[in-house]
Amino acid sequence: MAEEVKLHIHNVTKVYRSGEQDVLAIDEVDLKIRNQEFATILGPSGCGKSTLLRIVAGLTKPTSGVARMDDRVINEPGQDRGMVFQSYTLFPWLTVKENIQFGLEISGLDKGKQEQIAREFVEKVGLRGFENTYPKGLSGGMKQRVAIARALANNPAILLLDEPFGALDAQTEAIFLSDRVFVMTARPGKVKAEIDIPLPRPRSYELKSTEAFLNLKQQALTLIREEAIKATNIVA
Ligand SMILES: Nc1ncnc2c1ncn2[C@@H]1O[C@H](COP(=O)(O)OP(=O)(O)O)[C@@H](O)[C@H]1O
Ligand SMILES: [Mg+2]
Repeated sequence: MAEEVKLHIHNVTKVYRSGEQDVLAIDEVDLKIRNQEFATILGPSGCGKSTLLRIVAGLTKPTSGVARMDDRVINEPGQDRGMVFQSYTLFPWLTVKENIQFGLEISGLDKGKQEQIAREFVEKVGLRGFENTYPKGLSGGMKQRVAIARALANNPAILLLDEPFGALDAQTEAIFLSDRVFVMTARPGKVKAEIDIPLPRPRSYELKSTEAFLNLKQQALTLIREEAIKATNIVA
């Protein structure tokens, strides 16, 4: 694996000031993502996962600290960072193909090239035959694939996925896919643990029943449960 640091979230703190009350969402989060790395952030609801992604996407400013990509400070959105939001956020008035082409059109690519890239990504996410369908005619999973295709069509250096596993067993899928899993504390979110997943690739589904996999999963689940309990106590 390349050791080069692609993304450095450096001592980032975010305080939301809403009305009278300040909400300390994340507190001095420091983490590095390497080039070519698949990393997952796990943690209870409200611990600041979306906040972190939005900071990397350049949509939210840190209160203190800084996020850097390739040593450049991130302070605005850019096509080098593709974001897929939890709610997918497709344009309802555009078809699948038009949604995927949207960013390409903005970047001024010629029409023929736009169409070619859109076709390629429709194919890649398995939506051939749905090119001219509007979002309301798609299932949730299909909308998610369009949103991923739209982000990938811009050829970003980093793909940010917020809650990509939906109702699936998120912990298992995170370990199965990742090189590294970060577990966050309950709010205010800090990095509680960093778990290396040194399982060889390509990974097949049988891996999920191996001892090595189950040990890693157990390790992650124990850490996550401790924080989930705290998060529930805060609410109660
Ligand atoms: N725009 C906002 N204004 C005020 N508080 C916010 C805002 N966005 C998020 N928060 C608060 O910040 C904390 C972290 O939220 P979020 O990043 O959405 O967590 P997660 O994605 O892990 O569930 C939560 O307590 C949430 O209520
Ligand atoms: Mg979230």
